[in-house]
Amino acid sequence: MKITIAIDGYSSTGKSTVAKQLADWLEYIYVDTGAMYRAVTLYAMQQGLIADGFFDKEALIKKLDQIKITFTRDTTSGKAEVCLNGKNVEQDIRNLEVSSFVSPIATVSEVRSKLVEQQQHMGEEKGIVMDGRDIGTVVFPNAELKIFMTASAAERAKRRYNELVERGDDVNYESVLANVQERDHIDTTREDSPLVKANDAIEIDNTETNIDDQFHTILQLAKDRIAKRI
Ligand code: DC
Repeated sequence: MKITIAIDGYSSTGKSTVAKQLADWLEYIYVDTGAMYRAVTLYAMQQGLIADGFFDKEALIKKLDQIKITFTRDTTSGKAEVCLNGKNVEQDIRNLEVSSFVSPIATVSEVRSKLVEQQQHMGEEKGIVMDGRDIGTVVFPNAELKIFMTASAAERAKRRYNELVERGDDVNYESVLANVQERDHIDTTREDSPLVKANDAIEIDNTETNIDDQFHTILQLAKDRIAKRI
């Protein structure tokens, strides 16, 4: 019997790493919902709806029907990559510019309800690992396994900084840390679906945990839940 696994938490806590590991091991579908909010943000940037740190919310809401987000599988890596209106934008959504606008865009209720509806549809058959901020609280409140991931802001900024440098982006640690803290603030204080730990979620702080140990801990939890459903 397949289950639904919801992984929520702060940015750069390694949600997608463990979600991918679980999906590969269990042969489940993996959905990165942050990529969907990032793709909407990229669309708003391309349409000139964001300037000087402000965005035209009403214009974005009017254009929501024109945004189609899908996932495609990279044939070599096997990784799911996000597409905006048919174009693969996986690389374009990972830069600091998108990162700095995505949290305000994710506060817009109309954006959230459009994406949540699509996410719930993707999970109808179960056998899914989805990561984000509101998966255990809003998207799949009945998920059999909910994980809530945390780590110190300094450690998360270090991880994100290393990722960006590896991609060849010209960034400094201080601005990455500021972005992480800013997003934490917006994500946890927004009115619609703020980032909170669901009552029945299991909290995992991985500031000092190694990735393999963490994976095995969560995999065991998943196996226990699957066994209960058989
Ligand atoms: O996981 P990420 O850093 O790629 O997410 C980008 C932003 O999208 C994050 O700052 C908050 C928002 N987000 C959200 O509000 N709800 C989700 N389910 C996923 C992401």
